[in-house]
Amino acid sequence: MKLLVTGGAGFIGGNFVHYMVEKYPEDEIINLDLLTYAGNLETLKPVEDKANYRFIRGDIADRSFIMNLFETEKFDIVINFAAESHVDRSIADPGIFVQTNVMGTVVLLDACRTYGVKRFHQVSTDEVYGDLPLDRPDLFFTEETPLHTSSPYSSSKASADLFVMAYYRTYGLPVTISRCSNNYGPYQFPEKLIPLMISRALADEKLPVYGKGENVRDWLHVLDHCIAIDLIVRKGKEGETYNIGGHNERTNLEVVKTILQALGKPESLIEYVADRPGHDRRYAIDPKKMETELGWKPIYTFDTGIVETIEWYLNNQEWWQHILSGEYQNYFDNMYANRLKQS
Ligand code: NAD
Ligand code: TYD
Repeated sequence: MKLLVTGGAGFIGGNFVHYMVEKYPEDEIINLDLLTYAGNLETLKPVEDKANYRFIRGDIADRSFIMNLFETEKFDIVINFAAESHVDRSIADPGIFVQTNVMGTVVLLDACRTYGVKRFHQVSTDEVYGDLPLDRPDLFFTEETPLHTSSPYSSSKASADLFVMAYYRTYGLPVTISRCSNNYGPYQFPEKLIPLMISRALADEKLPVYGKGENVRDWLHVLDHCIAIDLIVRKGKEGETYNIGGHNERTNLEVVKTILQALGKPESLIEYVADRPGHDRRYAIDPKKMETELGWKPIYTFDTGIVETIEWYLNNQEWWQHILSGEYQNYFDNMYANRLKQS
C-alpha cells in the first residue's frame, strides 16, 4: 500500500509517520509537507533513512503540483494532517487558515476524485463542535453534536469537514473523518499550552495563563490519537465520523500547576493575562463509537502521559531549543545541500 501523509513534519503527523513507518515496513509512506513555521524535519530524523519512507516538500493548496503528484504516485490512502493549527494565530490572521485548511483540503479531495483512492481520511478536531458550559460536566460531544464553531481555526476545520462529507455524498469518494480532543506528547511546537509552559518554566520565565485558567481541555496522548487514526483508516466505515478522546479533562490551571510541580518550579511563575477573544470554555469528547465499533481504548491516562511527556522535553531540549532559536528552519536547506554535495 502507498500512503500519502500530509503535514507529517508537524506534531501529530510526525508522530503518525514514526508510528506507521515502524508498524508497516511493507507499506510505502510518503510525507508531503510545506514546512511552514510549524513544520520541522528534525522531527523526522528517526525515520529519514528508512526504506519505506520518503519526504516531499509541497503545498496541499497548490492544485497543479498536487494533481501532478497524484498522477505520478497513484496513492492508495491519503491522510490529511496538513493545516494551520493554532487558534491564536487564526485570530490574528484568518486568511491562511481558509487557504490551507479549506482550499488545501478541497484540492486534495479533487485529486483523490480524479485519480482514485481507497480512502481519504481527514484529521479534524473536537473544536468544530464549539464549546460546552463549565457547569454541565454531564455534557459531551458526540458525532451527532451540531457543528457550532467559535474561532477562525475551528470554522476552517468545520468547513473542510463539510467538503469531505459533500465529496462522499456527491461523488461517492471513500472518506472518513476523525475529531480528536487536545493532543500532547513529544514533538509539539512550543506555542501550544503544554510545551510552551514546560520550556518557559525551565527558563524561569513567566507562564501566561489566559483569563482565570478555568477553561477545560480534554487531553489525549498523541500516540493514542495515531493508533485511533490507523484503526479508522483500516477498519472504519466509509462516510463515517469518529470522535477520539480519553476522558482526561483538566482546567488549564491544573495542567500548568502539574507541570510546575513536576519541574520543581514555584507557582509564582504563573501570570494571569488577558483572555483569548471568543475563548472556548470546555471541550469534552464522548468516545463511545470508537470504543464499541472499533475496539479502541487509550493506552495513556493524563497522569501517566504528562509525566512521560515532561521527561521527553527534558531529555530532548535540543529539539525545542532549535525551534526557539529559529535554527530548525535551516535543517531542510542543510540536509538537502549536503545531499546535493554527495550526489
Ligand atoms: P502542526 O501545526 O504541528 O503541524 C501542521 C503541519 O502542516 C506542519 O508540518 C506544516 O508545515 C504543515 N502544513 C501547513 N500548511 C501546509 C500546506 N499548505 N501544505 C502542506 N503542509 C502544510 O499541527 P498538529 O497539531 O500536528 O495538527 C495536525 C492536524 O491535527 C491538524 O489538521 C489539526 O487541525 C488536527 N488536530 C490537532 C489537535 C491538537 O491538539 N494539536 C487536535 C485535534 C486535531
Ligand atoms: P492551545 O494549546 O492553544 O490549544 P487550543 O486552544 O486548541 O485548545 O491552548 C490550550 C488551552 O490553554 C486554551 O484554553 C488556551 C490556553 N492557553 C493559555 O492559557 N496560555 C497560553 O499561552 C496558551 C498558548 C494557551
